[in-house]
Amino acid sequence: MGPRKPGQREIKDSGEFAGQCGLTVQKVEDKEEVEIGYLFLRRFWGRGLATKVAWASRDYGFLTLGYERLVSLIDPENLAARRVAERVGLALEQEVDKWNKKVCVYAISKDETVP
Ligand SMILES: CC(C)(COP(=O)(O)OP(=O)(O)OC[C@H]1O[C@@H](n2cnc3c(N)ncnc32)[C@H](O)[C@@H]1OP(=O)(O)O)[C@@H](O)C(=O)NCCC(=O)NCCS
Repeated sequence: MGPRKPGQREIKDSGEFAGQCGLTVQKVEDKEEVEIGYLFLRRFWGRGLATKVAWASRDYGFLTLGYERLVSLIDPENLAARRVAERVGLALEQEVDKWNKKVCVYAISKDETVP
């Protein structure tokens, strides 16, 4: 096993690679947005891992990197990914055309998370 890259997650007990999550710049209708993205191997789904790391990425984006707004771009049929976005506090803003298909834009701004 090679060195762990930033944003990758391993299961602590076994050191097994489980998936990844992180922030990436995306163009949405000619505007640059910062996206929280998440992807796990199927056998690790349903344990709350995506919610946990998406939450951490959100806080890192706002509190450490100082972004004012974060988004997630999600296939409308991907109900699990939509649920993760909602649990982390993002709200459905609009649907746009991207990657030759319709994509839901979920968004949250920093001031929505600061008490
Ligand atoms: C989307 C993905 C990251 C979710 O990972 P996960 O670790 O299983 O997510 P969590 O366990 O944190 O949460 C999943 C939530 O979706 C819900 N969910 C799962 N399958 C669902 C379905 N078919 N319909 C509705 N909700 C569903 C779960 O109940 C859970 O919500 P809850 O905690 O309120 O019960 C995972 O399915 C994945 O890697 N998919 C392939 C890559 C992908 O689609 N990435 C997102 C691209 S935008």
